[in-house]
Amino acid sequence: MKILVTSALPYANGDVHFGQLGGAYLPADIYVKYHRLKGSDIVYICGSDEHGVPIILAAQRQNVSPKAIIDRYHERIRQAFDGIGIEFDNYSRTSLPVHHRTARDFFVRVYEKGYIKPESTRQLYCPSCRMFIADRYVEGTCPHCHTEGARGDQCEACGRWIEPLDLESPKCMTCGATPEVRETRHWFFALSQFQEPLRRWLDSKTNWKANVKRFCAGWFEQGLRDRSITRDLSWGVPVPLPEARDKVMYVWFDAPIGYISSTKEWAERTGRSDRWRDYWLDPGTKLVHFIGKDNIVFHAMVWPAMLMAHGDFVLPGEIPANEFINIESRKISTSRNWAAWLPEYLAELPPDPLRYALAVNLPENRDVDFAWRDYQARSNNELADVLGNFVNRVAVFLRRNYGGRVPDVTADDEPSLEVLKTIEATTGRLGEMIEGFRLKAAAREVMTLPALGNRYFDGRAPWRQFRDARAECDRTMNTCVRLISALEPLLYPFLPFTSRKLGRLLGLGRRSWDDASRPAVPAELGEPEILFEKVDDAVIEAQLARLGVKESDETVQGAKDSVPAKVLDPAASKPEPVKEEPMLSFEDFKKVQLRVARVKSAERVPDTDKLVKLVVNLGDEERQIVAGIGKAYEPAALVGRQVVVVANLAPARLRGVESNGMLLAAVDGDRVALVAPDAEVAPGSEVS
Ligand code: MF3
Ligand code: ZN
Repeated sequence: MKILVTSALPYANGDVHFGQLGGAYLPADIYVKYHRLKGSDIVYICGSDEHGVPIILAAQRQNVSPKAIIDRYHERIRQAFDGIGIEFDNYSRTSLPVHHRTARDFFVRVYEKGYIKPESTRQLYCPSCRMFIADRYVEGTCPHCHTEGARGDQCEACGRWIEPLDLESPKCMTCGATPEVRETRHWFFALSQFQEPLRRWLDSKTNWKANVKRFCAGWFEQGLRDRSITRDLSWGVPVPLPEARDKVMYVWFDAPIGYISSTKEWAERTGRSDRWRDYWLDPGTKLVHFIGKDNIVFHAMVWPAMLMAHGDFVLPGEIPANEFINIESRKISTSRNWAAWLPEYLAELPPDPLRYALAVNLPENRDVDFAWRDYQARSNNELADVLGNFVNRVAVFLRRNYGGRVPDVTADDEPSLEVLKTIEATTGRLGEMIEGFRLKAAAREVMTLPALGNRYFDGRAPWRQFRDARAECDRTMNTCVRLISALEPLLYPFLPFTSRKLGRLLGLGRRSWDDASRPAVPAELGEPEILFEKVDDAVIEAQLARLGVKESDETVQGAKDSVPAKVLDPAASKPEPVKEEPMLSFEDFKKVQLRVARVKSAERVPDTDKLVKLVVNLGDEERQIVAGIGKAYEPAALVGRQVVVVANLAPARLRGVESNGMLLAAVDGDRVALVAPDAEVAPGSEVS
């Protein structure tokens, strides 16, 4: 099967930040790298989105031409992707002639088929900017749910579509002026005519992600309206109609066509200029669009309708849309510079640890948080201490005791067969996960192998075997090298730079994914390279300082405390099995009112080491609660954290101190871990 993968074309008016990277690029790259190792017929397409109002405004602000802006950022973006190991087959740009030509032909075809019609419209015009205001640049109150701060295209609070003219108390977001309504003529794409075909098509996508389905369902409910696809601007793809000389295409009309033009450029560049047709014109091609959730409507509705209207091209087969990544518990805002930028990161730190920290925490089903302390813990406790340590101890042991040669074995014993079976089973599971777009699970899964390697190494104690049972030692070390050999392809999608280092250590030449199940060993290991440097506190503090936060700040404090301690060996403690009795009815369960609260203050109850007296904020009230967590937590470190409380527990007195509720905590022998929401929510939020 042919697979054509795209990542949303980033606007060439700014650098790429971690939210974009983890939303649309890293997941696609993992998926593509895996398929390349599998030998699939796959092409990965992207490019810079170089039209649209944000670019015009950036140019105005900096008093340069739009061309100067896009030239600068196209190059920066391309280099940043390269630095983080994202490997497109082609990275194009929408200002190229091939794109203008392709977009023009697309427009003309759809126009000739009667799906594009002019209409006089009334639009918001900003008298002080002297410009019609683009939908996204007008802000006001949502006419549906009355939330403030809604944009003129869609309300983030209720998810509904907004016509800019319907916004209550609109404001120009560029200058703050109140816009006026002016008449202009625009060409509309007949989206309304595609309501039924789109609905049928989407209904057939039974395995698509819930976020995509939900968004579209909301749209159908409101009914699809025709969309204006031209703009009164001087920057963009000119509309190819004599009566629309002074207009350009709406950027969301031309940009997705960029996927086609970039494929054309790829075909041209690789010497078979017709090859793009093999993908776009074949209904058997699996077209996969990786995007962030802010792009769902365009990729799951407008673009497929455009493709249906055009008629020649394959429709999207998969749209793995991701949710958002917050930074240090706060929503990314590029305008307020609350973000972490890829070029800045790459100037100081290596690519793989970031790929890893994002991959094990991808926003596949919900918004997630990126915290620098979590990045540090992942780098040090997982990459360095587990993966790096395993490879290093094997290489060092062989060097010291075998002169770097890998001992041969004739037969495997039980423990090594166990390791090999686990490798094979894991390889299969990883493949299924990646093909099913469960990339976060896959990233976590692959790291169980080096952990297994360490356990195996420790259990076999080769330093003792080498003295007492040389043949056993040979087997141990051979098995360890086979595990490293399997890791080379299995890690590649996630940690390509590390995988290449393993490749140099092994010197086995190009490996495929399926080689992991029958891992080969070389006669000798190459020079071992350091896989991961420990990230020390100063690095993290510098990153936090860049965000302008001190670690005493509440949001960061919360994130810091939630850093996972070293991953516990699941076999170490044995919790009680779940009891079957008594069975609880849902009604009974609903009687327990669980709420999120924020700790306002915490102090030890005098003369106890276990009890902590806390005051928590439950939204509109404050409570005093006494909790038995004093051995596990320093009270001062709890301030600012979010916790889950049973809010309707009958009051009680503990050591004479009144307690009005209870904190939820996980209890594992002597270890106690507070239960907390996965992301910041408003205090008082229900837990259900
Ligand atoms: N430039 C848009 C964004 O960053 C994405 C465009 S995706 C495409 O939100 F399909 F239109 F290319
Ligand atoms: Zn304005």
